Amino acid sequence: MGVSAHTPVVCLTLSVVTIALFAYVLCVCMSDNKPTVTRITALELELNLGGDSLKRARRNLRTVADEQRYPFLSERKLKRSQASRSAPREELCQLAPEERFDCARDRSVSRSECEARGCCYVPLRDNLSNGPPWCFYPPSYPGYKMGPLSPSPRGQAATLTRPTPSYLPRDISTLRLEVMEELEGRLHITLKDPAHPRYEVPLSVAQPMKSPDGQETLYSIEIHPDPFGFIVRRKSNGRVLMNTTVAPLLFADQYLQLSTSLPSSLLSGLGEHYTPITLDLNWTSLTLWNQDMAPHSDANLYGSHPFYLVQEGEGQAHGVFLLNSNAMEVVLQPTPALTWVSIGGVLDLYVFLGPDPQSVVQQYHQVIGYPMMPPYWSLGFHLCRWGYPTTNATRAVAQRMHDAHFPLDVQWNDLDYADKRRVFTFDPQRFGDLPEMVKHFHQEGMKYVLILDPGISSSSPPGSYRPFDEGLRRGVFIRNTTGQPLIGKVWPGPTAFPDFTNPETQRWWQENIQDFHSKVPVDGLWIDMNEPASFVQGSLEGCPDTALESPPYVPGMIGGHLNSGTLCMSSQQNISSHYNLHNLYGLTEASATYSALLKVRGSRPFILSRSSFPGLGRYSAHWTGDVRSDWEQLRYSVPAVLLFGLYGVPLVGADVCGFEGDTSEELCVRWMQLGAFYPFMRNHNDRSNKPQEPYVFGERAQDAMRSALTLRYSLLPLLYTLFHQSHSSARTVARALFLEFPSDPNCQTVDRQFLWGRSLLISPVLEQGSVELAAYLPPGTWYSLHDGQPFHSKGQYLLLPAPLDTINVHLRGGHIIPQQEPALTTPASRTNPFLLTVALSTGGWARGELFWDDGDSLDTFERGDYSFLMFIAGESMLVSQPLKTNGALDGLVLGGVRVFGVPSPPLEVWVNSERLEDFSYRSDTQVLTIANLALPMAESFTMRWRL
Ligand code: GLC
Repeated sequence: MGVSAHTPVVCLTLSVVTIALFAYVLCVCMSDNKPTVTRITALELELNLGGDSLKRARRNLRTVADEQRYPFLSERKLKRSQASRSAPREELCQLAPEERFDCARDRSVSRSECEARGCCYVPLRDNLSNGPPWCFYPPSYPGYKMGPLSPSPRGQAATLTRPTPSYLPRDISTLRLEVMEELEGRLHITLKDPAHPRYEVPLSVAQPMKSPDGQETLYSIEIHPDPFGFIVRRKSNGRVLMNTTVAPLLFADQYLQLSTSLPSSLLSGLGEHYTPITLDLNWTSLTLWNQDMAPHSDANLYGSHPFYLVQEGEGQAHGVFLLNSNAMEVVLQPTPALTWVSIGGVLDLYVFLGPDPQSVVQQYHQVIGYPMMPPYWSLGFHLCRWGYPTTNATRAVAQRMHDAHFPLDVQWNDLDYADKRRVFTFDPQRFGDLPEMVKHFHQEGMKYVLILDPGISSSSPPGSYRPFDEGLRRGVFIRNTTGQPLIGKVWPGPTAFPDFTNPETQRWWQENIQDFHSKVPVDGLWIDMNEPASFVQGSLEGCPDTALESPPYVPGMIGGHLNSGTLCMSSQQNISSHYNLHNLYGLTEASATYSALLKVRGSRPFILSRSSFPGLGRYSAHWTGDVRSDWEQLRYSVPAVLLFGLYGVPLVGADVCGFEGDTSEELCVRWMQLGAFYPFMRNHNDRSNKPQEPYVFGERAQDAMRSALTLRYSLLPLLYTLFHQSHSSARTVARALFLEFPSDPNCQTVDRQFLWGRSLLISPVLEQGSVELAAYLPPGTWYSLHDGQPFHSKGQYLLLPAPLDTINVHLRGGHIIPQQEPALTTPASRTNPFLLTVALSTGGWARGELFWDDGDSLDTFERGDYSFLMFIAGESMLVSQPLKTNGALDGLVLGGVRVFGVPSPPLEVWVNSERLEDFSYRSDTQVLTIANLALPMAESFTMRWRL
C-alpha cells in the first residue's frame, strides 16, 4: 500500500480530530457508561446513616392531616372522606365500583357479616369473581394509629397500635414502623411485630445504604397517623406514586394486606405469569407461589417476583419491591390501584424512584444483587431433549449438527442418563461411556450439561445409593413434623428433599457434585423440578392438619392448596418452616450449586434453574419451562424474556421450537429465528414428540435456521459486552422498548419486538403464515442489519418483508457494534477476525464498545483482568481505542468494517497512515464496506474516509 503525498496532512488532521474524539469518548465514559466504576451492591455497603441523613429524613418525612391524604380522590370524595366519621352510612358507601377496596378478600361474607366488619355492602348487577367487590371499606375505616416518630439507627421509627383487633384471626395489635431513606432514589419501609420476631427473608443483600451527605432524595413521604397510611410523592412534580391510605393496613399472623393507589395503569412485573409486558388492571389477581406449572394464563408458574415497575408518563417510572417470600396474592384494580396480600412474614417494602425505567431496574438490582457474568460458551447454541436414550444417540445428534454445519456449543442430556432416574448416577448400560462422551465433546470444543433434580431417591436398598444414605446420616433432608425426612414423589419414585438452607446440606451437595464431576466432567448443571415439585400432595403420608397447611386464607393457586404438587407446609427446614421458605427453594439450591460448581470446576459456573425468586440471577440462568409448541407460546415468550430482565435474570430463554407437543417446520424456523435473540438459546423437546433438531427439517428450513444461528454467533461479542454491562451496572440485555425510549408513548406496551441493549431492534415473526410484519421503529435512523438499508423514522410502524428465511434486525443510528466471523463453536469463533458495524446518526456520529476477557474465569471484571475497547465515529472517521488491555485480545484482528449511512462515495480510505485500496461503496444503501483488514484488536487505530 503506497503512502501518498497527502500523508502528513492527513496525519495532522487525524491527530487533531482524534484528540477531539477522545475528549468526547472520555466524557461519554465518565458520564454515561461508567465501564470501569466498580459496582456497588447493597451487600457491599455498610449501615451508616449519619446525622445529616437523619435531618434530611425528618425534612422529607411529614405526618399529615386528614385533608392531604386522598390526593387521588376527587374533591367531592375528599369532602366525603373528611366528613366520614359523622356521615350517614349510605353516603359513605357511595364509592364508584373501581374505587372499592375489598373488605372480604380473606373469605366470602354475607351482608350481615360484611356490615359486622364495619364495611359497606353494595351488590352490583354482576357478581363476578374477578370484578369489583360487593363488600368494601368505607373511607377512614379504622385501622392502626401511629404514635410519635423518633430517630432509629437506620431512619425514623414509630409504634402503631390498633385499639380493637381487625376481623382477622390472630391479629397483631402493635407494629413497629421504620422508615429509611437509604438513597437518593430508594426508600425503605418496614412493618414488623416488635414483640414476637417473625420470619424474614434471609436475603443477604438488603443492607441499607447511606445517601451522600446533603443529597436530596427524589421523593417525599407523608404519613397519616390515624388510620395509619403513607403517601410517597415524586418531589420534582408532586406526583403521588403510592398512597396506602386508600384502604386499611391489615397485619395478622397469617394475613398481611397493604393497598396503594398507582399513578398510572402501565404496570409491569409481579411474575412469573403468562402475561404481556404490561398487566391488565381490570380486577386481576396474581398469585406468587412457585409451582411446577406449564405456562398458561391465570396460573401461578415456577417463580415469584414481588416487584413491579410503573411507567408514570413523561418518561418517568418507579418500582416497588415487597421483600416477602410467603404465598402472596396481588390484586390489581382499574382505580388504578394494587393490593398486596401475603400470608406470612413481615412487610419489607422498597420504593425505587428511577426517575427513568432503566434506573428503577438498576436500583432494584442493587438490592437483590447484580446478575452473574455468564461464561462465553453459554451464549452459544444449546441442544437438548428428553429422549436421547443412549450416549450413542446423544453423540449422533452432535455429529449430525456438526455435519450439517449448524453451530452447537453445548450438548445436553435430560433424565435419560441417570440410573433409574436417580441423580448423581448414570445408567451403566445405556450411558456406560458417559465420561468418554463428555471428554469427546470437550475435544471438539463443546461443553456438556445435564439435568440435576433436587429430589433424592429414598427407596434404593440401604447401602446401594450413597447420596441418600449419606444424606440421611448427615441430616440434610427437609423433615416432617415428626422429625423424619419428608418423602414425596418425583421422577425416580419416592424422594427426600435436600434442605439447602442447612450448611451441612450445602457441603453434602458439593461433595456429591464433586464426586460425580470426577467421573463425568460436566460443564454446567440444569436444576429442574426445584419449586420443589412433587407428584403427591405434601408427602406420601399426607400432611398434618395444621394452620400452616390450611391457613385462614389461601391465595388462588393451581391445585387450591399450598401443598398441592409440593411439600407439606409444616415441614421443617434449618431456618424456618417450608411454609415460609417454599418460594426460596430454587434460589437456595442455585446458590448451593453455584458454590459447588465453582469449587469443583474453578471457573464461572453455569446453572439453569426453573424456579426463581429475586436474587436468582446472581447464580443462574432461567428458562420459561414447559412451553407448548404453538404460536401463542412463541409470542408470549417475548414478554417472559423481557420481564426476567427486569427481575435480574438476564440469561433467559424459552425452549426453542416448544417443549410440549409436536412442532411444525414453520413454527420451528420462526422460533429458531426468535431464539437466536433470546439471551439464552436452547432447543429442548419432550419425550413423546417428533424430533426438532435443526437437521431434521427440509433444506429451506435448515438454511433459515443456519442463517439465524450464524447471525447469533456473529453477534456474540456484542451480546457478551451487554452481559458485562448487566453484571457491572445492571443494564438489561434483552430490553423492552419502553426502557430505552421511556418518553415515547408508542413504546409503552410493545412486547412483540425488543432490543439488545441500546442498539439492536429485533422484530420477529410471531404469527403462522406471515411473510411480513408491522414493526415499530422509534424516532431516529434505523439500518437493516442485513444490508444497511436506512429508515428515518419519526416514530412509526413500517411494514417489513419477512419471508421464511428472514428475521428483521435493525441497528440504531449512533451505535457501533462489535461482531466476529461465526464458527461452529465459540472457542473457534472467539479466535476469528472481528468486524465492526458502524451505524452513523444523522449527524454522522456513532459509538460502541467491546468487553473481552478469557470468557471463563471468575470475577475478571472485579479483578481488572479484561480488555475494554471504545469505538467512536464522527467526521468521516472511526477510532478504536483500548481503554484497558490485559492480553486477552492479543493475536486477534479486526477483519472488516461496515459503515452505514455514508452519504456519498468515499474517494479514499485510510487506516492510520496507510491508504487502503480494498473498499467498496453502494450508492443505493449508502454502505461503505472495508474488507480484508488485519488490524490488531489490542491496538488503537484510526480509519478515515475522504468524501
Ligand atoms: C420437567 C422440565 C422439562 C424436563 C422434564 C424431564 O418437565 O420442565 O424441561 O424435560 O421435567 O426432566
